[in-house]
Amino acid sequence: MTQLPFPQSFNMVFFGGTGDLVTRKLLPAMYQCHKNGQLVDFGRFYCLGRHDYAQDEYLAIVQDKARQFLPSADWDDDVWAAFRQRLVYEKIDAQRSEQYAALKEVLAQSPAEVNVFFLSVAPSLFTVICENLAQQGLNAPNCRVVLEKPLGHDLASSNAITEAVGRHFQEKQVYRIDHYLGKESVQNLMALRFGNALFEPLWRRMWISNVQITIAEEVGIGSRGGFYEGTGALRDMVQNHLLQLLCFVAMEPPASLDSDAIRNEKLKILECLMPFTKEDVHAKTVRGQYRAGVSSGQPAVGYLEEKGIPADSKTETFAAIKAQIANWRWAGVPFYLFTGKRLLTRLAEIVIHFHDVPHHIFPLPSSGSRAPAKLVIRLQPDEFIRLYLNAKAPGDSMELQPVSLDLDFAGKFKTRRAEGYERLLLDIIRGNQALFVRQDELELAWRWVEPILNTWAEDPSGPKSYKAGTWGPSASAALLSRDGHRWHEED
Ligand code: BG6
Repeated sequence: MTQLPFPQSFNMVFFGGTGDLVTRKLLPAMYQCHKNGQLVDFGRFYCLGRHDYAQDEYLAIVQDKARQFLPSADWDDDVWAAFRQRLVYEKIDAQRSEQYAALKEVLAQSPAEVNVFFLSVAPSLFTVICENLAQQGLNAPNCRVVLEKPLGHDLASSNAITEAVGRHFQEKQVYRIDHYLGKESVQNLMALRFGNALFEPLWRRMWISNVQITIAEEVGIGSRGGFYEGTGALRDMVQNHLLQLLCFVAMEPPASLDSDAIRNEKLKILECLMPFTKEDVHAKTVRGQYRAGVSSGQPAVGYLEEKGIPADSKTETFAAIKAQIANWRWAGVPFYLFTGKRLLTRLAEIVIHFHDVPHHIFPLPSSGSRAPAKLVIRLQPDEFIRLYLNAKAPGDSMELQPVSLDLDFAGKFKTRRAEGYERLLLDIIRGNQALFVRQDELELAWRWVEPILNTWAEDPSGPKSYKAGTWGPSASAALLSRDGHRWHEED
């Protein structure tokens, strides 16, 4: 992650330029970078779509979306007027190879040091787009291709994408996005672990009893029924975001911040993940599906009543998994992964539970249970690091009480926290792959989840039902209590 110099000029081409991701996330992110002066003057964004929009018509749509999704304090009419000069709408049918000559010509009118092709389209189009780009020589060494998840549906389809893209682009030209890696809070994990000697000796099985990694969402599937029904929580969240977080928690210190130094260490963790047998899947995983309930004080329909979902769907909207890493540092330490939609609240955090002291000299607290130290790393919605310790409660006894040391990032750093996509798009332009998933990582992640996918698919009992607005099926608490642990909850 050594900061590489920014090129003098770039073109970024968005396939799927009228889609949700481009208009809601990517262009607003680039607006922010433009506003912060992080883009060179010669940087253009070509937004491609199949609609017959006139330039002004497209820009009006984009502006509307940007105003809707950018914090109002960040909106500035003059800045937008300057930013929109960078945007060009081009009509293209991405499947028709003869239309790429025109694209090449358009790009030739603004020759740039770097050309980025961001494929914000269905993965079924990845192959044909890469082929068509290559036919026009748009896979030259100064060209980069960006792939958004889902990268496949299983190991075979993911490998097929890798192979097809790899026919035209070298690995160093391919940027696989996991937007979690763009989050400041996730990068902070590395700062915490590798910028402070204090944690290193404790960061191992001798001192840590279990690790809990949670990404909970309050929202349901919204209007994404078509996508979600064929995907489910395991493919949507576990195979990528949760496993990447697990890697950052568990990996050895990399020798440097170079892309491959970091990715090599993550890879070793993926290699050490203990594979699941069918019996393991039954014993160590829980899947759930939300039914009607209440979310944010409003009635919420169940998954089966959502638009586009078949009444007998067995797609999971919740997953809890006990993962284990077979190496010297982590043998025997469970890593519990937890994710779901329509849960009680939106929350992403990593909780490191330390072992209890080996011998107790203090009386049992009046709460009836002891509270070994734990470190809570909250990633969102708020960002903090909280270390829970025991202190003597005031008074004439020696009773202990949990207290916390807090680092609140918003309070400490007053500057705006950039959105993940800002960092990631800037890194793509710079050519820094450290926060992108390498092909071998992707493959191992699929290899690990596949037995779970297969066993779930064969199991007629389907996911356990949970009420929208709760913490998911009670079986997930049992997954931990069998090991003598419980999910962390903030007071
Ligand atoms: C995406 C998933 O990758 O991540 C979505 O496809 C999910 O289903 C989203 O809602 C969560 O991201 P964040 O940044 O809001 O936690």
